[in-house]
Amino acid sequence: MKALVLAGGTGSRLRPITHTSAKQLVPIGNKPVLFYGLEAIRDSGIREVGIIVGETGAEVRRAVGDGSQFGLSVTYIPQEAPLGLAHCVLIAREFLGDDDFLMYLGDNFVIHGIRDFVTEFLARRPDAQLLLTKVANPSEFGVAELDQGGRVVRVEEKPKEPRSDLALVGIYMFTPLVHRIVAQLRPSARGELEITEAIQELILHQAAVSSHTISGYWKDTGRVEDMLECNRMVLENIAPRMEGSVDDESEAVGRVDIAEDAVVIRSRLVGPVSIGPGTVVADSYVGPFTSLGSGCRLDHTEIEYSIVMDHCSINGVSRIHNSLIGKNVEVSPAGPAPRGHQLVVGDHSRVRLNY
Ligand code: G1P
Repeated sequence: MKALVLAGGTGSRLRPITHTSAKQLVPIGNKPVLFYGLEAIRDSGIREVGIIVGETGAEVRRAVGDGSQFGLSVTYIPQEAPLGLAHCVLIAREFLGDDDFLMYLGDNFVIHGIRDFVTEFLARRPDAQLLLTKVANPSEFGVAELDQGGRVVRVEEKPKEPRSDLALVGIYMFTPLVHRIVAQLRPSARGELEITEAIQELILHQAAVSSHTISGYWKDTGRVEDMLECNRMVLENIAPRMEGSVDDESEAVGRVDIAEDAVVIRSRLVGPVSIGPGTVVADSYVGPFTSLGSGCRLDHTEIEYSIVMDHCSINGVSRIHNSLIGKNVEVSPAGPAPRGHQLVVGDHSRVRLNY
């Protein structure tokens, strides 16, 4: 059994962060979202992983390496353009050989892992198996219709009138049978080879397509509010750690994770909070559900429910909330009068001011 992890795509909904970074590497609880997926794959017993990479391939390779840090053996498969999920299966044909495989969208987050899903597949070995979850907005997903035995009788990609509220999570199991179908697919209206269409073809060919519905938490972390929500979930369960230093004039309440060489001076931390290596927090308030990356500097600032990536400097801002801040960002007080904001922000940035 192998795994095919999809880490290409443009991440347009996470701009400007994704102008310079892979969406799968945005940190959740100070760890790239992709790493949670790789760990879940390892914990399900799979060792050989192919990762589909696109424009941000170099960054993904740098972060994941040969996979040994996860106990995995990783092969990279470059995709020249985001031509669809089934296109990924097509170009991974040689890597996958005639093995069964798990396909995993690299920006997905499943809180309880996928071990049960894989075990169930191994026990029954249908031709394909889909991970599903109930959603409030099924027309934004692939949607599955089941018979009473839980067998999938139809799947549709982003239907206008969904026949159920069961969405395809973006985690699938396949036998090599899928390759025959994928080889014959034509691009959809959005110009992509759709895996949902391949699954529907399997059903039409009388293949056994089963499903596993999770009630546990998952998110397709494509949007800022999803990232922040995932960050909240992860921080709620984070193990407290104190490897940096907190001075006597500071107060840390609740669950705090302070990495090595982090320094907290005259500040108040209200957990759950994660502070990365070498980050300095001075005369500031860091409130619940906040992750600060490594090498940051916070002065005279209040922040909560936010993700700050590495090497940011934030000075004199009260208060930042609901925010996702990319790497190497500098926020500082403006000069003297006239009173005003000076913004030097990248393309597709979103700034919401309030005063
Ligand atoms: C893809 C799949 C869709 C699935 C979704 C899960 O959609 O095509 O069936 O429900 O991932 O995240 P996309 O993100 O490409 O719009």
